[in-house]
Amino acid sequence: MSRDPRPLVAGNWKMNGLKAGLEEIVAMRRAVEGRQAGDAEIIVCPPATLIISAAAVLQGGPIALGAQDCHPKAGGAYTGDISAAMLKDAGASYVIVGHSERRAGYGESDALVRSKAEAANEAGLAAIICVGETKAEREAGEAVSVVSGQIRGSLPPAATPANLVVAYEPVWAIGTGLTPTASDVADMHASIRALLGEIYGEAGVRVRILYGGSVKPSNARELLGLPNVDGALVGGASLKANDFMGIAGIYA
Ligand code: PGA
Repeated sequence: MSRDPRPLVAGNWKMNGLKAGLEEIVAMRRAVEGRQAGDAEIIVCPPATLIISAAAVLQGGPIALGAQDCHPKAGGAYTGDISAAMLKDAGASYVIVGHSERRAGYGESDALVRSKAEAANEAGLAAIICVGETKAEREAGEAVSVVSGQIRGSLPPAATPANLVVAYEPVWAIGTGLTPTASDVADMHASIRALLGEIYGEAGVRVRILYGGSVKPSNARELLGLPNVDGALVGGASLKANDFMGIAGIYA
């Protein structure tokens, strides 16, 4: 029986990947065409420099492309930036916004993240909006209130389950090999689900909530099997087709 909402496994390559890395994307395509991810939706978010060439190798296949950030404006004098319309034109259908590496490294506020998500939706891209608490916030018992604040501040009220995905990524779990306990993940996802219901009404049950932070083949089954966990946002383990498919393969 296929799951509702449809699970989504997204690979975030961050600032990794040269043209040679396209081989991994070709291998992922083959694996997904061979039903190795079952009915799950699979997307890869390579660096912007690879989107056009990745789109060429993925054309007509089951894997969609995402980007890792966009500018809130559609165009103009913003040296070095890339707009959502440009990403769409290059072949992307998703864009990650509000990743903690951008919130922390570039001081991105909830309001900015929301304007980026709105720009993405406007351009016809689905936004994957990242939220998550720091270690200190979790230890202070503030994880749920921090994430709730980010959700209220970063999600466009006009978004729909078709153009919005939420990724819960505890900052301290990203790239560290550490993960929250299963019950902490389940509790956080339940509270995000409740909040999505407040914001979007009945549609809130269909907005996908991904877990991200040190997801790997060895922990994917437990983490992604939890209630209200509709897939994963994967960093390090998405760079190699074998690892990535070891995660997505739980849906086969
Ligand atoms: P990680 O990164 O899987 O390497 O922990 C996840 C992310 O930052 O999206």
